[in-house]
Amino acid sequence: MEDKVCPRCEGLGWVKVKNGVQRCECRYKHITDTIYNRMNIPKRYRDKDFSNLVKGETVGHPIIMERVEDYINSSKYTQGKGLFIVGPPGVGKTHLAVGILKEFFKRRGVVGLFYDTRTLLFNLKSSFDGSASAREILEDVVNAPILVLDDLGSERLSDWARDILHYIIISRYNDLKPIIITSNIDLKARNTSVNALEETLEERMGQSIASRLSEMCEIIPVKGEDKRGTNLVKTEVANAKG
Ligand SMILES: Nc1ncnc2c1ncn2[C@@H]1O[C@H](COP(=O)(O)OP(=O)(O)O)[C@@H](O)[C@H]1O
Ligand SMILES: [Mg+2]
Repeated sequence: MEDKVCPRCEGLGWVKVKNGVQRCECRYKHITDTIYNRMNIPKRYRDKDFSNLVKGETVGHPIIMERVEDYINSSKYTQGKGLFIVGPPGVGKTHLAVGILKEFFKRRGVVGLFYDTRTLLFNLKSSFDGSASAREILEDVVNAPILVLDDLGSERLSDWARDILHYIIISRYNDLKPIIITSNIDLKARNTSVNALEETLEERMGQSIASRLSEMCEIIPVKGEDKRGTNLVKTEVANAKG
């Protein structure tokens, strides 16, 4: 396969930082690829991180980034505190969540785990006859030092799915293990609801999950327009091709 010249260091292997230079990430690419596979980061988001979040836009808003930086650098994570990133589709919630997982790895050596919630439930269900693979997936999800549950509450859930999510969330809650959640719907009803007509997560998943999550997670509301199909994304695509 043709090796593209790294756009960050232009093939030099070093990049400028505040206090000098440091090894460019491309030098560690084979290592990070393996780690990001282990973290289950989807291909579409493999190259997404803080460096390509447009500052000031949606999730790149300074107030949000400040809160996120504060979270990553603090000890909140060791106390089981997570984040609940909520906002309409296309504003960069998944991009931000992937970026946070990567920063935890880069800064603190923490190898987290990413799951789109629906995919997780599907994978569990399709192998759930008490089979080893379902048990392994569940074990990984319950024990990961930090877990991203992407797009939680995007649809009504069967009793089975609710029970499984309940088990995952309560197990992590009891073990002081953080969860980073992204969602299109509010955790609980509030005046400034993203969409006051939408059901809340509390209504969709029940009060006991919602109250655990509101205890565990700091809420980060994201406002803005859908960035899919905008110049922002088109530029990214052009860069990826070029
Ligand atoms: N502030 C931003 N800076 C850079 N890219 C962004 C930003 N907000 C959204 N995007 C891009 O828009 C697309 C949709 O974002 P995504 O994280 O999938 O949205 P959501 O999870 O909120 O539905 C992705 O390609 C993402 O990288
Ligand atoms: Mg998303």
